[in-house]
Amino acid sequence: MRAALYPGSFDPITYGHLDIVRRARKVFDKLTIAVVENPRKGALFSAEERKRLVERALEEVGIEDVPVITYSGLLIECAKALGVVAIVRGLRATSDFDYEFQMALTNRDLDSDIETVFFMTAGTYCFLSSSMVKEVKRYGGDVSKFVPRCVERALEEKFRETA
Ligand code: PNS
Repeated sequence: MRAALYPGSFDPITYGHLDIVRRARKVFDKLTIAVVENPRKGALFSAEERKRLVERALEEVGIEDVPVITYSGLLIECAKALGVVAIVRGLRATSDFDYEFQMALTNRDLDSDIETVFFMTAGTYCFLSSSMVKEVKRYGGDVSKFVPRCVERALEEKFRETA
């Protein structure tokens, strides 16, 4: 069985992420989503909130059999512990490339048995990012094209709490 891990901050999960999940599911027998506990940039949602939102978003769009976990520390250690053959990442525009290339090569240096595999996102989501969604929603914009309803509601609640 060929299992893969799709890691990220998912702060919050968007339709772009879900598009990558669908594509990766077609290629791998098993896919696990891993939500990092301490992202590089401060997160709006806690790790547990982000994990729960990923689970609810998967349910909302009808994607089954994709477990969601959280991890802290090195991604490669999490990948090894799960016994996956690959780390999945999504690529949007070329601007993603430098960061992704650096991360993939670092992870390969740490364990050359685990490959990083990139999936191109659908054209519609090329410029979609969690940061953009947060910014638009923070100022009252409509994000229904970018995120499932459960995420939209969670953003509304979060911004109400922090207002
Ligand atoms: O969604 P993101 O923020 O682009 O995801 C980046 C993430 C979380 C996959 C990456 O920063 C990560 O796994 N960090 C954990 C620490 C680590 O393993 N660093 C070395 C590889 S860059």
